[in-house]
Amino acid sequence: MDGNGRWAASRNLPRLEGHRRGAERIFDVIDECITLGIPTLTIFAFSVENWKRPVEEVSGLFKLGEFVLRANLARILKRKVKLKIIGNLEEMPDFVKEPLKDALIKSKDNDVLTLVVALNYGARQEVALATRKIAEEVAAGKLKPDQINWAELEKHLETAGLPDPDLIIRTSGEARLSNFLLLQAAYAEIVITETYWPDFTKEEFQKSLAVFAKRERRFGMTGAQVQPAKTL
Ligand code: IPE
Ligand code: MG
Repeated sequence: MDGNGRWAASRNLPRLEGHRRGAERIFDVIDECITLGIPTLTIFAFSVENWKRPVEEVSGLFKLGEFVLRANLARILKRKVKLKIIGNLEEMPDFVKEPLKDALIKSKDNDVLTLVVALNYGARQEVALATRKIAEEVAAGKLKPDQINWAELEKHLETAGLPDPDLIIRTSGEARLSNFLLLQAAYAEIVITETYWPDFTKEEFQKSLAVFAKRERRFGMTGAQVQPAKTL
């Protein structure tokens, strides 16, 4: 959800106003996913690297996150959205952690949309942690080194049980992954839009989906293999 700061700066507003306006867009995208039957949506809310921002911005983001969650929990539950957090929740301040844990419990049986919030998340940290868990299993004699393959590693990632992303949308024109789901993104289609996140309305989301729909996904195969009818 990138571009909140630049959106605000271009209007001579404080950065936090950009974050506030950006938060509203999350619900546009959630609602459109539900309408279209998209089963999983992951939003990158706060990266492990975002702690390097000025302390006022970090605390402003956490306060906003807590407010947005409290104000919208009923809406989330009504839509049968299941919340999942990836990232280190334990390191978050209690005023954020507690309502999130409450929301996780209250939404656990919902099945219309899985909303994955990447919070205090970093893909490199996730892989390091998965590696550590595997090493512990090997040390304990529960796993043999030759049993370690992608399927085994995947089980130890925080996204275990979730599908790999098909589409990653980068707002605000940035063309990088910024430590987001690096391994899971192996075959994701990346759509870059110049739109700043606070302007990323339902219509903008539909435009990104339309770009995605035109991509030919080959997963290492040839075009003829994935689209045999076209070659006749
Ligand atoms: C939001 O946008 C991303 C968060 C970490 C919440 P930015 O704050 O990165 O906006 P820009 O990049 O300064 O425009
Ligand atoms: Mg940014």
